[in-house]
Amino acid sequence: PAAAQTSGSAFSFPEVTAGVDADHHVAEGYDADVLLRWGDPLFPDAPAFDPDNQSEQSQERQFGYNNDFVGYIPIDGSSEHGILVVNHEYTNEHLMFPGVVTKADQELAEGDAELSIAPADAWRVGVEMAAHGGTVVEIRKDSGKWQVVLDGARNRRITARTPMEITGPAAGHARLQTAADPAGTRVLGTVNNCAGGVTPWGTYIMAEENFHGYFLGVLPEGQAEAGNYDRYGVPGGSYEWGNFETRFDLAQEPNEPNRFGWIVEVDVEDPTSTPKKRTALGRFKHEGAQNIVAPGGQVVMYLGDDERFDYVYKFVTAGTYDEADRAANMDLLDDGTLYVARFDEDGSVTWMPLTFGEGPLTAENGFESQADVLIETRRAADLLGATPMDRPEDIEPNGTNGRVYVMLTNNTKRDEANAANPRPENAFGHIIEIAEEGGDFAATTGTWEILVQCGDPSIAEVGATFSTETTENGWFGMPDNCAVDADGRLWVTTDGNSASATGRTDGVWAVDTEGEARGTSRLFYRVPVGAEMCGPQPTPDMATFFVAVQHPGDGGDDWEGFGRPSYYEDLSTRWPDFDEALPVRPSVVAITKQGGGRIG
Ligand code: FEO
Ligand code: CA
Ligand code: CA
Ligand code: CA
Repeated sequence: PAAAQTSGSAFSFPEVTAGVDADHHVAEGYDADVLLRWGDPLFPDAPAFDPDNQSEQSQERQFGYNNDFVGYIPIDGSSEHGILVVNHEYTNEHLMFPGVVTKADQELAEGDAELSIAPADAWRVGVEMAAHGGTVVEIRKDSGKWQVVLDGARNRRITARTPMEITGPAAGHARLQTAADPAGTRVLGTVNNCAGGVTPWGTYIMAEENFHGYFLGVLPEGQAEAGNYDRYGVPGGSYEWGNFETRFDLAQEPNEPNRFGWIVEVDVEDPTSTPKKRTALGRFKHEGAQNIVAPGGQVVMYLGDDERFDYVYKFVTAGTYDEADRAANMDLLDDGTLYVARFDEDGSVTWMPLTFGEGPLTAENGFESQADVLIETRRAADLLGATPMDRPEDIEPNGTNGRVYVMLTNNTKRDEANAANPRPENAFGHIIEIAEEGGDFAATTGTWEILVQCGDPSIAEVGATFSTETTENGWFGMPDNCAVDADGRLWVTTDGNSASATGRTDGVWAVDTEGEARGTSRLFYRVPVGAEMCGPQPTPDMATFFVAVQHPGDGGDDWEGFGRPSYYEDLSTRWPDFDEALPVRPSVVAITKQGGGRIG
């Protein structure tokens, strides 16, 4: 296929044809090689993947489930030898364990005994908890192909049971104290780590997103946290962990939900280091934590709260980054200012500080300290009049053009539009571009405009605004993760495209932001049926692009001719192994150009 000849485009790869099938597809002239699959060993002594004999102990030594964020930390500056950090967001029991069906299947099957869900037991919950969290693993490129370094000194699995320290203004607060941790400073594990980040000093940031789903049970009558938990949807009841581990049962441990919903920082250089939950960055459904050093040296971390009508945040450190002294940066994230965004009709954005004692954030409104403001970040932001958004996902600053890209994935429940969320019943999402005042990422004001409203531009009612140079393969819906590469180019990955929604799977789209080509999008890679596209992460030399294929084979009745891909036994794809004895496996893929060279 000929490359699309878009005037002034920063991209020249031949576009992939959009569609839906059992395999993944990358642009012609590129290789897409599976690097790490769920269950792959991460240590010399790790057992091989055996889906019929899963255990918590083996899963703790293997690559986890549902890879989302992918980060690359170079070793000695190399783009061919580094540390890959990967979030394992959640587990899909119906795709992991024989005999388990989805809740949707159960409802459809009413009365069909064969479709009764296999109830969780302590064994299964143990596997699920070990399949969550993150992976830190050394990788190396040999003869143009990436390999896992099994005996890498930094290799590590982080799970829902890994001990973590709570730091920052809310550490030790009474509302974080539990029977198992009367000091309120030590918590087991992290969950639902969606997007994330890597800091300039080479630590790994995990963002805790939909933590409400891990809690069940009823809060004791009159318990003071009821309003707080209501604002976050706690208890969500998506998992049965609370039936086996009392801390996830509100009736038995009413404060545990206050210990989740934070940003977690991991020092990857020491595999025995204790990850830190950095409370200064607020408590909400954290999507990601991409960051940049401002001209004044402060580190600025952009934070989305992924829920309909929730907010866009950023955190600016009080201290400044010291490139020459890694140790001096290690607690930068404990002290700084958390801001929430108000997007006004005149195209300005105002970053409002969430600081105890300022404006409405006082005892009159139930805030006794900065800890209270952070524990109830959403309520504090409500009081400040932040702009309710169409589900803020990943946000990425661009050091090349000085702007910031905000992925807003969709919001079908919006009735009233506002300037920054202009479509009611926004099914396909949009991308906002922010220009901070004076090009300073630490600024408290700036301007914004919409880069693109997503969806099919050939259907007028959709209101999509891709450039007219965008082909029928080039448009997408539901932007989710994103990356800005070393040349300042924007790459967007999606969550929610499907045969019925958009006639295409999720994928990686390259989106022009500059000049005449602005708003032009083209498809670079697409996932197998049922999957969501996560990552993406280019290496500094742009010769490799890591992407994460999440929950392949999931997604109900979406692929005509292949039935409901819900049973372990009856999947619509067996990606990536295509072996009837193996389930589908979420995997990280390394994309390289055939013969080498820069991607794009
Ligand atoms: Fe886990 Fe907001 O996607
Ligand atoms: Ca996801
Ligand atoms: Ca996401
Ligand atoms: Ca999403």
